[in-house]
Amino acid sequence: MSDDRFTALWVESTANNQFDQRIIERSIDDLPEGDLLVDVRYSSLNYKDALSASGNPGVTRNYPHQPGIDAAGVVIEDKSGRFAAGDEVIVSGYDLGMNTAGGLGQRIRVPANWAVALPQGLSLKETMIIGTAGFTAALCVGKLLHMGASPSDGPVVVSGATGGVGSFSVALLSHLGFQVAAVTGKLEQSEWLSSLGAQQVLDRNTLSEPNKKPMVKPQWAHGVDCVGGEILSNIIKSLQYSGSVAACGMTGSPSFQSSVFPFILRNVNLLGVDCVELPLSRKEENWQALATTFKLPKLDAMAETIGLDQVPEHLTRILNGHAVGRYVVDMQS
Ligand SMILES: NC(=O)c1ccc[n+]([C@@H]2O[C@H](COP(=O)([O-])OP(=O)(O)OC[C@H]3O[C@@H](n4cnc5c(N)ncnc54)[C@H](OP(=O)(O)O)[C@@H]3O)[C@@H](O)[C@H]2O)c1
Repeated sequence: MSDDRFTALWVESTANNQFDQRIIERSIDDLPEGDLLVDVRYSSLNYKDALSASGNPGVTRNYPHQPGIDAAGVVIEDKSGRFAAGDEVIVSGYDLGMNTAGGLGQRIRVPANWAVALPQGLSLKETMIIGTAGFTAALCVGKLLHMGASPSDGPVVVSGATGGVGSFSVALLSHLGFQVAAVTGKLEQSEWLSSLGAQQVLDRNTLSEPNKKPMVKPQWAHGVDCVGGEILSNIIKSLQYSGSVAACGMTGSPSFQSSVFPFILRNVNLLGVDCVELPLSRKEENWQALATTFKLPKLDAMAETIGLDQVPEHLTRILNGHAVGRYVVDMQS
């Protein structure tokens, strides 16, 4: 392949609003304008990639499209002067992989201020084991800590626990000394969740039942919610006094119901988390934390490494809620 050609996942709309995924060869001349051209070494799979690759207009409006909201690689050129050729960088969030050609291609061209220099203490591959999911888990846990959460407060509940954000949240909270209760629809993964540090594994159904009471017995000191809907409603109702829940996802439902009672009678906090438009300086801080105080001892065990040709089948599993943990894509395999 000549130097300006590269391989990428390509999503096209076909008849009847269907979306077809295949691996194609592209030219760097087809990439959008931008200062920073990156040789992508690793990418990762996230729920949002599954939405983009299946035609979700809330994520990607224009097809055909090269998805991938995560990329880690080596700078080929940077016209802005911020990076030198050969520098190692992470690009995630902003418009990457949404309507801008993303990290599931061996080349991306983006604004230089979308990139973070690889922090000392992490390899390119490790940053993609973490990826957007682990990065978001760190933001959730960081917000809980910012609110004063401490292991002595009691158990922290994590929903969507076998997913990317959920599994990283379980592992990170446990690493920081918290007791973790993992809520999952995949009880067969209980042993794996325990190996990540969950002290309790709960069937998703026990938290999915609608409950008309505005509050129930306080059970959780804090929470990380990846699914929204009834589960988020039930977590809010069962937080202890001054508890906080970081809400970051919607795999169950984008909406939820609550009265104001938990907020005004139990002083609880609902914390919003967004990793996409976070200012670059905050992204740099979060990556620093992930490379130091939040660095998990067994990062390698958190993800399965796959090749680009295996991406379509894994995106389908993610979309159907059957995936477990994280998937790193080796873009050179
Ligand atoms: N706010 C942000 O900046 C941000 C960043 C990253 C991700 N997110 C969002 O966070 C969520 C999780 O992302 P992810 O990458 O971790 O996804 P993921 O790896 O696909 O994990 C999602 C998990 O949600 C659970 N789940 C799936 N379908 C469900 C349903 N119908 N009802 C209840 N639970 C269900 C499953 O876990 P169990 O089987 O264990 O229950 C699944 O493994 C997504 O909504 C994503 O868009 C937001």
